[in-house]
Amino acid sequence: MNIVVLAGGISTERDVSLATGKMIYEAVKRKGHRAVLLDVFLGYEGEDTDSVFAQEKDWAAQITGVGETSPDLEQIKALRPDWKKNFFGPHVLDICRQADLVFMALHGENGEDGKIQACFDLMGITYTGTDHVSSAICMDKGITKDILEHYGIPVPKGIRLKKGEKEGEMPGFPCIVKASCGGSSVGVAIARNSQEYEQAKAEGFRYGEEIIIEEYIEGREFSVGVLDGRALPIIEIAPKSGFYDYKNKYQPGSTIDTCPALIPREKTEEIQRYAEMAFQALRLKNYARMDFMMGKDGSVYCLEANTLPGMTMTSLLPQEAAAAGISYEDLCEKLMGFSLPKKEA
Ligand SMILES: Nc1ncnc2c1ncn2[C@@H]1O[C@H](COP(=O)(O)OP(=O)(O)O)[C@@H](O)[C@H]1O
Ligand SMILES: [Mg+2]
Repeated sequence: MNIVVLAGGISTERDVSLATGKMIYEAVKRKGHRAVLLDVFLGYEGEDTDSVFAQEKDWAAQITGVGETSPDLEQIKALRPDWKKNFFGPHVLDICRQADLVFMALHGENGEDGKIQACFDLMGITYTGTDHVSSAICMDKGITKDILEHYGIPVPKGIRLKKGEKEGEMPGFPCIVKASCGGSSVGVAIARNSQEYEQAKAEGFRYGEEIIIEEYIEGREFSVGVLDGRALPIIEIAPKSGFYDYKNKYQPGSTIDTCPALIPREKTEEIQRYAEMAFQALRLKNYARMDFMMGKDGSVYCLEANTLPGMTMTSLLPQEAAAAGISYEDLCEKLMGFSLPKKEA
């Protein structure tokens, strides 16, 4: 197949997306596909767009790794001063239209939020991952929590706060403050007193108009991928220091990941059941990954759903797939297969 791996963009998770894209690009090539790795925002400057899939070049050569903090997006935006008139970089849509499938390696705004999915639906472009509606729902952690709660999936207690709005009763200290539309822990902080709380709110509002303030669940952290409605083995993430923040997520060796997680069978089944319920409740399709905390008393809470979970060296979904006997290459093939038209029996 001719595959475009679409990555980059101008969200705070740009570097993570490029790292995910590079790994996927290399994996699909190993499986014998013809692949092009494209930065959705910077596009392709060449004139030979009709023959890109035939080019013998390493499209990932420029991509290095993920830094300790999220990238400077102003520098990237400055490369395309006209970007507000058309988010897509040069030739991105032409090349995507020629592909049999676009592998979505995007994260965050304009990729994980459903806008590109909606655009692709209208243009008849086939892409991996869930559709535009569920992407948009899951991009908003407040709406996600409301839906999960409605379907009986436990979530941390908390409030939502809009910029400039009067604050309701907050859950007390310590609490977690996060940007509603964030990802990769950018804009997430623990507040243990009023001073930290004010700082955390200001930081959260840097990333959007709404923040979430919720009870801090002290305990263990887990994540569960769901492929086509079925939960994978659970992974436990134990950061060597601090919480699962941006640095701990992407610097190899920062966390101890255990998959399958060493928890009693009933707990495994409970978390997997909640993950599958969340998948249904949030109208997800094809695949996603849910994050969970387990308090000291064994209570389980769903934090959020990730519609385009990371596929980097340190990412969770590939580790979970490996525990189920699925290699990285085969995981990519499966994710692609979910989106292709089903063959007649
Ligand atoms: N209520 C909470 N209690 C304890 N830790 C939390 C809570 N909410 C978030 N965290 C920590 O912050 C990290 C990021 O939060 P999450 O809601 O998963 O957002 P995202 O991964 O999209 O940035 C989690 O992986 C977890 O380590
Ligand atoms: Mg998360």
